[in-house]
Amino acid sequence: MAEETPNLSEVHEFLIELAGKAGELITSAHPLINGVGSKKNSSDLVTETDRAVEAVVSDALRTKYPDYEFMGEETYHPSKPLTEAPTFIVDPIDGTVNFVHGFPSACISLGFAVGYEPMVGVVFNPFTNTLYSAIKGQGAFMNRTKKLPLKGDDVEPLNGLSSALIAVEWGSDRSGANWETKLRTFESLGKSKEQGGAMVHSMRSMGSAALNLCSVASGVLDLYWEGGCWAWDVCAGWIILTEAGGIMADGNPGNWQPRVDSRRYLAVRGSPKGEGQTELVEEFWSHIKGTLSYSDE
Ligand code: IPD
Repeated sequence: MAEETPNLSEVHEFLIELAGKAGELITSAHPLINGVGSKKNSSDLVTETDRAVEAVVSDALRTKYPDYEFMGEETYHPSKPLTEAPTFIVDPIDGTVNFVHGFPSACISLGFAVGYEPMVGVVFNPFTNTLYSAIKGQGAFMNRTKKLPLKGDDVEPLNGLSSALIAVEWGSDRSGANWETKLRTFESLGKSKEQGGAMVHSMRSMGSAALNLCSVASGVLDLYWEGGCWAWDVCAGWIILTEAGGIMADGNPGNWQPRVDSRRYLAVRGSPKGEGQTELVEEFWSHIKGTLSYSDE
């Protein structure tokens, strides 16, 4: 455990500097669709660039902050789960499938949590040059100056799922109970009210949990539901979301305070005085057909 209280502003600046360096590595790489490695199956990809970026970032963080823990996607092992200690939680490339295909929705996600609570977040998409960042208690910003949500005080009230644009993700598990829960829930979200559905405006799958959360923080999406991703996918985006007035609930019904490593999430954007947020979460929960369940392996 570190002896001194972390200097969050300093951490924020350092993470932004690292994000810029990582962005150069990511945009100068040339991954080949047929040449990349897979982890547990053919849609769970990892590239040399994921590993190289994580090595650069972890070296830099361990050198500057030797007292803080480090958790990264490419070096994670279940024997070393997240603890209360100040921890950098890093996904070197969130949206690896997009990165491999050249679909410009990928980013580096650099989070810092203390006592399991996200405190600093930096998410940088080097393909669009978009930087999202936040420090606990200090608001969330796009490209350092544009406060989130983008509409500011003009952000519209939430008005239920039938007028919502939402994000969901397919994930890399394509069979089993979690897959069935997702499919049946997607159906319920999409279909008409006459058939008992929510008939959302539409659903997006942009392939990066961190960028989905930043889109909800920005207010261009109303909600994001996820099951199966990891603390490194959400830590940075989480604090950006909540600093923009959004809330994070559990991806399964009933829990309003999920942990950052719970692997199930439901993010809702900010609205005037938070109106409609709890209603939207409860309405969403009522459409979940099954139970999401993940281990830390
Ligand atoms: C993935 C993305 C995706 C989410 C998956 C993650 P990766 O991260 O965040 O949106 O649905 O669960 O694994 O593998 O590209 O770092």
